[in-house]
Amino acid sequence: MISENAPSSPSSKPLSKPLLRALRGEAIWPPPVWLMRQAGRYLPEFRAMRDKADFLTRCMTPDMATELTIQPIRRYGMDGAILFSDILILPWAMGQSLDFIDGRGPVLSAIRSEADLARLDPKRVQDAVAPVRETLSRLAKELPDVTTLLGFAGSPFTVACYMVEGGGSRDFAETRRMMQTNPALFDRLIDTLISSTAEMLCGQIEAGAEAVMLFDSWAGILPPSAFRRYVIEPTRQIVAYIRARHPNTPLIGFPRLGGIMVREYAQKTGINTLALDTVADPAQISELLSKDVPGLTLQGNMDPMILFSGGEAMIREAQAIRDAMRGKPHVFNLGHGVMQHTPPENVAALVEAVRSV
Ligand code: CP3
Repeated sequence: MISENAPSSPSSKPLSKPLLRALRGEAIWPPPVWLMRQAGRYLPEFRAMRDKADFLTRCMTPDMATELTIQPIRRYGMDGAILFSDILILPWAMGQSLDFIDGRGPVLSAIRSEADLARLDPKRVQDAVAPVRETLSRLAKELPDVTTLLGFAGSPFTVACYMVEGGGSRDFAETRRMMQTNPALFDRLIDTLISSTAEMLCGQIEAGAEAVMLFDSWAGILPPSAFRRYVIEPTRQIVAYIRARHPNTPLIGFPRLGGIMVREYAQKTGINTLALDTVADPAQISELLSKDVPGLTLQGNMDPMILFSGGEAMIREAQAIRDAMRGKPHVFNLGHGVMQHTPPENVAALVEAVRSV
C-alpha cells in the first residue's frame, strides 16, 4: 500500500517521505505509521528465516538482516523500516558474551566489577558492527522511495541494566544496587556506553539511516534524581554529539514508563521526537509540552494488546489516538513492541485504519 503522501515527481524525492517530514516537526494527515518490533515472530516469513540461523547470525549477516527489515514493509507498506538488529549488539561488539536462548531471552556474562568492565573494549565496536552498516547501505538502496530508514540503539541505562544483570530481570536489582553501592563503577559503565552509542549511531547515519531512535525501555524504574543522572543526562550528551556531526538527522527518544519525567526529558535532551508508552495520553502530553518544546513530534502509542486483540475496538482506538493528534506533529506507533502471537491480519487492518480518511 502506498501512502497518500507519495511523491508526484522525482524532484520532490528528498521531501517525499511522510515519516521523515513528521519527525522533523511537520503535522501530516493521515499520520505516518510504523510499529516497534514490526519485524518479528508474529510474521510467518520471519519464522521461516528463524530456522536458518540463530538470532545473532541473522543480525550480523547483511543478506538476512536486510530481508528481515524489509519483510513488514513488503507486507504492509509501513512508512518506516527499522533496522533488524538489537540493543544488545553494542555490548556484544565491545566483547561481552551474548546468547539468545529460546524461552529465556538474552543471556550475557554479567558485569559486576572493575575487572569485568576493563575486559570490554569500546574500540572494537565500529569494526564489529561493520555488517550492520552494510545492511543499512543495502536498505538505503532497496527500500521504496517513500520509506524512511530508521537506525537505533538502546539508551545507556537500559543497556547497562542487561549488562550488569547478565540478561533480563523483573526488577534489575543488581543494577540498582550497583548504582547505590559502587556509583563510580556504574558511572564509568554509563560513560563508556554514552561514547560508544553516540559513535555507533553516527556510523548508522553515515551508512544510510535517516533518523535514529534511542530505546530506554527501563527508564521508568528510576526515581527522579537517578532518572536525571542516568536517563536525561546521557541522552542529552548522545544527542549533542550526533547533532554536531549530523544536524539534520531527527532523533527519537523513548523513555518508557517515564511518567511525568518525560516532560523534563523532552526539554533537556534535545530529541526531536518523544516516543510515548501506552500509559501516556498523547493529547495531554502535547498540551503540556507545546510551549516548552516547540516543534516536538510525538510518536505512539496504542497498546500492543489492543493490536493483538484486533477487531472494531482496535480500529476505534487507533483512530481515536490519530484524531486526537490531528494538526500536530505525530507519528502513529504502538506504546511498546508488537506481541509475539499477534495475528498478522490485525497489523494490516491497523495500517489501513490509520490511513483511512
Ligand atoms: O522490528 C524491530 O523493532 C527491529 C528490531 C529490534 C529488535 N529488538 C529485534 C529482536 C529492536 C528495535 C529491538 C530493541 C530491543 N531489544 C529492546 C528495546 C525495546 C523493548 O522491547 O523494550 C530490548 C529491551 C531488547 C533486548 C531483547 N532482544 C530482548 C529482551 C529479547 C528477548 C525477548 C524476545 O522477544 O525474544 C530480544 C530478542 C529479539 N530482538 C528478537 C527480535 C526480533 C527475538 C529474537 C528471535 O527471533 O528469537
